[in-house]
Amino acid sequence: MSKSAFIKSSIAKKYWMALTGLFLCLFLVGHLLGNLQLIFSTGEEGRRVFNEYAFFMTTNPAVKALSYLTYFSILFHAVDGIALLIQNKKARPVPYAYSKPSENSSLPSRYMALLGTLVLVFIATHMSNFWWKMKYTEEIPLHSYFAKTDKDFGDSTYAKTLEQKEFYYTQSGPIPKDTAATTTKGLDIMVKGTNLKYASGYKDLHTVVSAFFSKNNKSESGVPLGLLGMLFYVVSMAVMGFHLWHGFGSAFQSLGLNHPKFTPVIQLFGKGFAVVVPLLFAIIPVFLYLIS
Ligand code: HEM
Repeated sequence: MSKSAFIKSSIAKKYWMALTGLFLCLFLVGHLLGNLQLIFSTGEEGRRVFNEYAFFMTTNPAVKALSYLTYFSILFHAVDGIALLIQNKKARPVPYAYSKPSENSSLPSRYMALLGTLVLVFIATHMSNFWWKMKYTEEIPLHSYFAKTDKDFGDSTYAKTLEQKEFYYTQSGPIPKDTAATTTKGLDIMVKGTNLKYASGYKDLHTVVSAFFSKNNKSESGVPLGLLGMLFYVVSMAVMGFHLWHGFGSAFQSLGLNHPKFTPVIQLFGKGFAVVVPLLFAIIPVFLYLIS
């Protein structure tokens, strides 16, 4: 490859890495705002709010399209990054004779590929924890809850008693589990003994996420899976913070968006983003662990 063709292909790769990277930053903001509901709304109300949100996110066509763009961006960003690394290594198999990286670049910038790979490992593990279960398995039960109901006695003294019953929480209101429906097909709750759909339920993702980070989540041999899961998420968020510390500002450089006045502001915003977003993400599993 001629020198100019090499530089062109390298610039194109950086350009696409920057675009997909900035799109993924937007995804992070949306995902964070959705997940912060796990903290700001607790108890039975929090469970309803979060499960309704998860239902919307998995069924709304516009959100679905954005999800596919997100998966594509993650894969493209990773493959493009590896290609760029290989290309740079081939172009300069022997390092410069005088090379003092600590004087020429910040620590995260020299470890972007390693940090990016660790973030990818996190994303793969994370998606198998929740997203895979939600989309491709029947492991997550429908949202149901126990409530007390008034049961009238048909005598003249008008006596009442309170009875505990289990209800499905559905888009058409509460449905008693025992009388109305015993079978479900995906999100569909069927009229008992028939093939007719009664209502659409919500998958109980809230309970699954809370149980995952719970102190009670232990293996049969007593390994504290909840604690380990929480620590894995916290460490991964620190890694993501370092990746973003360099990546955010560098994306604007790769897109050629340089301006004497705005570039320092963008760089500063990027550093703030790299600290605040991972920190808020990390608070979620810590909070769920502590309240369990
Ligand atoms: C630490 C707090 C986090 C929590 C509690 C959390 C929770 C979840 C849950 C419950 C889902 C499944 C949603 C569904 O299928 O409807 C999900 C999906 C996903 N998460 Fe996270 N997440 C966290 C952080 C992150 C981070 C930091 C990243 C990226 C680096 C990430 C990337 C993803 C992706 C790519 C999906 C699939 C999204 C989609 O299908 O549109 N998550 N997350």
